[in-house]
Amino acid sequence: MNEKDFVSQALVNALDETLTVSEVKDLLENPKSPEHGDVAFPTFSLAKILCKAPNIVANELAGKIVTEDFERVEVIGPYINFFMNKEKVSQEVLQQILHEGAHFGDFDEGDGRNVVIDMSSPNIAKPFSIGHLRSTVIGDSLALIFEKMGYNPVKINHLGDWGKQFGMLIVAYKKWGNEEVVKEQPIAALLKLYVRVNDEVKKDPTLDEEAREWFLKLEHGDEEATALWKWFRDESLIEFNRLYDQLGVNFDSMNGEAFYNDKMDEVVRILSEKGLLQESEGATIVDLEEYDLIPALIKKSDGATLYMTRDLAAAIYRKKTYDFAKSIYVVGNEQAEHFKQLKAVLKEMDYGWADDVYHVPFGLVTKDGKKISTRKGNVILLESTLQEADERALRQIDEKNSSLPNKEKVAHEVGVGAVKFFDLKTDRMNGYDFSLEAMVSFEGETGPYIQYTYARSKSILRKANFIFEGSKKYALADASSWEIVKLLQLFPSIVKRAADCFNPSVIAKHVLQLSQSFNKYYAHVRILEESEEKQSRLALVFAVATVLKEGLRLLGVDAPDEM
Ligand code: ARG
Repeated sequence: MNEKDFVSQALVNALDETLTVSEVKDLLENPKSPEHGDVAFPTFSLAKILCKAPNIVANELAGKIVTEDFERVEVIGPYINFFMNKEKVSQEVLQQILHEGAHFGDFDEGDGRNVVIDMSSPNIAKPFSIGHLRSTVIGDSLALIFEKMGYNPVKINHLGDWGKQFGMLIVAYKKWGNEEVVKEQPIAALLKLYVRVNDEVKKDPTLDEEAREWFLKLEHGDEEATALWKWFRDESLIEFNRLYDQLGVNFDSMNGEAFYNDKMDEVVRILSEKGLLQESEGATIVDLEEYDLIPALIKKSDGATLYMTRDLAAAIYRKKTYDFAKSIYVVGNEQAEHFKQLKAVLKEMDYGWADDVYHVPFGLVTKDGKKISTRKGNVILLESTLQEADERALRQIDEKNSSLPNKEKVAHEVGVGAVKFFDLKTDRMNGYDFSLEAMVSFEGETGPYIQYTYARSKSILRKANFIFEGSKKYALADASSWEIVKLLQLFPSIVKRAADCFNPSVIAKHVLQLSQSFNKYYAHVRILEESEEKQSRLALVFAVATVLKEGLRLLGVDAPDEM
């Protein structure tokens, strides 16, 4: 229970249930300044119901509140201000965290059901873009958050390994390609071919026709086309996997678009049986005017299938295979229309579970304020970027703590953590400007700042040799620890909100706030000095360390004990 629960329960008891707990809870406010307590109840709405003046209602009601949950209850005009019993609350929160450890904030909401997460999903033979990095990092964090909510996350990398661009690529390779060059630097070489063929097709439209034919051949299992496709795919995957290793991210399934090649006829059959298909300029579509959406393209005039067709097959396959509670797609906001169409078609097909399908969009990342485009080859090469992040982290560690053991390992945890945290602290719909400088800084709202705070708390505990004793009473009643206790107490509801909103930034912002409060505390309070509160203060430090580490873990960020 958090403080609003306590207050609403106490009010409902005093009110003889004139209002329900949830009605009261909706009215509660968090006072701006601590002099006005932890929670305030404005009596205006209640006064209307009771036909009395608000300040009279406030006085009468406050007189009826008797519980040891509050230090005191004060009336100021029409407001009732509640001051929580710091001693009691801090004792409960500290006990709970010390007992539960990393399980603090676990839920059983999911009951072991599957949540399917479509994430990362880069395109074969093209560079892994910063958008794919966002999808990877956000998707991975959501998987961890849903796991904490009691679900079983299933991470699927829906590789872009099918489509007409493979026709383009085969044409380009056959015209200008070279096996050695591709082997040496697969993605760079294939991208070059892809950019070139896209340029030349403007002058020579027959290339487009050739590409279309090659893709059709591929869809029909032509041997040469398939062998080339498979080779491009294998080579690209070697590069992608290197990056996933660096990021420490893995997948439960690498079934990309090609996997659904033999599952699309079935989808088209169902669509046709349900009378949903229409011809339009030779192509086959599902009309979605009723949803205010442009038609979903199912087949081109030459019979070739499309991105949408494969996504329909994938959605149905996932329901059959995983019987998911939720199926989420972590994909850039520029594909919002596509996912609206996907959901709408599933609805038209009468699948009730279409309501469990969610597009989790995110905003664009810029570099020096400019859009980063893959086509033009203006890509941040992520592997070298991550490497550079590690190096910068190592330089900072060398300055601050050059004798640290395992320096390289810690530098990697800090470097990659910095890039992930920077991404995740941003509300996902907002984009951000990519800046390694800002990411790896030990100050400001960064991953390293939180890791550093965690390492500081561990160092205090090491120095004090703190051992948690289950039978001991740890409690603190002063104002500076209260700020921290309140943040600790909120953690479970923060986890739940992050899951409900598919938004890891809720957790990132919370661990930032907790770090800031803790550092303030550290600057003011002599934690290690002998005093009556020493053990309780250490228990508070222990609880902060526990929640920081768990919060970072949910973001996919490691927390080294020393740095
Ligand atoms: N490969 C696509 C792209 O890079 C993203 C795929 C997202 N997932 C999906 N099921 N459509 O744009």
